[in-house]
Amino acid sequence: MVLTGAGISAESGIKTFRDSGGLWENHRVEDVASPEGWHNDRALVLNFYNERRKQLLECKPNRAHYALAELQTKFDVTIITQNVDDLHERAGSSKVLHLHGELLKMRSSVDEHLVYDCQHDILEGDKCERGSQLRPHIVWFGEAVPMMDEAIPVVRQADIFIVVGTSLVVYPAAGLVNYTNYETQKWLIDPSDMPLPRVPNLKFINEKATVGVDYLVNQLLTEE
Ligand code: OAD
Repeated sequence: MVLTGAGISAESGIKTFRDSGGLWENHRVEDVASPEGWHNDRALVLNFYNERRKQLLECKPNRAHYALAELQTKFDVTIITQNVDDLHERAGSSKVLHLHGELLKMRSSVDEHLVYDCQHDILEGDKCERGSQLRPHIVWFGEAVPMMDEAIPVVRQADIFIVVGTSLVVYPAAGLVNYTNYETQKWLIDPSDMPLPRVPNLKFINEKATVGVDYLVNQLLTEE
């Protein structure tokens, strides 16, 4: 089981969240990633995600995404990602659970089960089949994280738990480390000197994703 965050996509050209003075691509997070922001200015929010979608379609998976896909040749791998990009899927990972939603999907603002694939711009006035405005299929701050119900059992059953490129400050995702078992092999890959979660048997690889993931995957694929 692999938990990924913004850091794994940094080397594909997608900015992380917490290294730019609290701003997300020059916007206050509350303005573009909260129900209040949506209520206050739909056009701004829609435009923000239109820009993110365009940017994503110009990016490619990097060595770390591909290495995790290669792990599937030997292991039953589930990726639990906080990222809204599709770079794990494009690299070939087949079981990817998106905790915070997906940029290439939109959904109805009255029925969360009406979800649509979307690779183009969405504007005010673009509606779902029930006639309500389409909104980004993103979990905003203050909203529930329904995929946690699927994620927790996967973590509980994991023999190996790898964390890549997340500051582990946003809950409930950050709390997933606490569902691992004592004997689970645990690895954390991050280039910063972050405070490490207090869980037993955690090994820290202090490298950026392309280097650290490649190293660990090679080790896991070659050991008996
Ligand atoms: P953060 O921006 O908080 O953390 C990114 C992490 O990636 C940091 O620990 C960096 O040190 C690390 N990093 C930077 N470059 C890296 C590289 N080349 N290789 C590996 N790691 C690198 O991002 P997240 O932890 O993903 O939520 O943020 C969690 C959530 O907060 C996001 O999903 C998003 C955000 O608000 C929503 O949008 C709902």
